[in-house]
Amino acid sequence: MLEISDLEVRYGSIRAVRGVDLRVRAGEITALVGSNGAGKSSVLNAIAGAVPSAGGRVWFGEDNLTGKTPEHIAGKGISLVPEGRRVFGTLTVLENLRMGFRGRSGLFAAELDRVTSTFPMLNEYLKALAALLSGGQQQQLAIARALLTKPRMLLLDEPSLGLDPLVTDVIFEAVGRLRESGLGILLVEQNVHRAIALADRIHVLKDGLVVHEGSDAAQALTMLSGSFQKRTSTARTTAATTEEVS
Ligand SMILES: Nc1ncnc2c1ncn2[C@@H]1O[C@H](COP(=O)(O)OP(=O)(O)OP(=O)(O)O)[C@@H](O)[C@H]1O
Ligand SMILES: [Mg+2]
Repeated sequence: MLEISDLEVRYGSIRAVRGVDLRVRAGEITALVGSNGAGKSSVLNAIAGAVPSAGGRVWFGEDNLTGKTPEHIAGKGISLVPEGRRVFGTLTVLENLRMGFRGRSGLFAAELDRVTSTFPMLNEYLKALAALLSGGQQQQLAIARALLTKPRMLLLDEPSLGLDPLVTDVIFEAVGRLRESGLGILLVEQNVHRAIALADRIHVLKDGLVVHEGSDAAQALTMLSGSFQKRTSTARTTAATTEEVS
């Protein structure tokens, strides 16, 4: 359903992504794993149109999304939950959710029910400022807001970053249920064991190249060992929990 071929991303002279092929089908989770700086976020951002691709093609069903604007790509049903969550801290949870909604206002309540059934915690905090939520609650809000756009494909960039194991369980269980509902999911994770265990297909990225692709978790872990460095940056983890837009 989502088909990427020969994707390239450059930042000036840095070739962050150097010809990546991958596919994500409806009702499947494809995990994209690799060490820091491997190019994982660049792949997601290029698919969503948030960074320009320097080469390659992005097809979503019958639609050629190569070089299209983020708005056009979102309108076709691809929703990105970027690294760092990016909730609007000075707005309430409800206001954040409303920003994700694109339909007629009369339909909002039903859609709100739908997404809060995935993350029931949000119901208790609808009137709270998003900045006051914990990192895990903000992550649930960020995913819920993406779901309000009624995507067919969800791009998740490190949803468990900085979260404790219990909240990580909540997020991973929700991602599993979203797959059951027929969503295609491209999941970037530093929590590689969890991601690989959940995924239907695994791509290991190294220095902007896919060095392994398959559905066998043990093989993927073997390919990762040696190239994967566990994230230790607490500064980045802290910074990721709240990001306000003024
Ligand atoms: N805006 C930018 N300007 C210049 N270089 C960038 C930019 N964004 C990323 N890079 C570089 O591109 C490469 C890939 O970065 P990217 O963020 O895609 O990797 P990643 O796999 O998501 O890493 P991480 O695990 O740290 O999130 C890295 O060398 C990074 O330093
Ligand atoms: Mg990244």
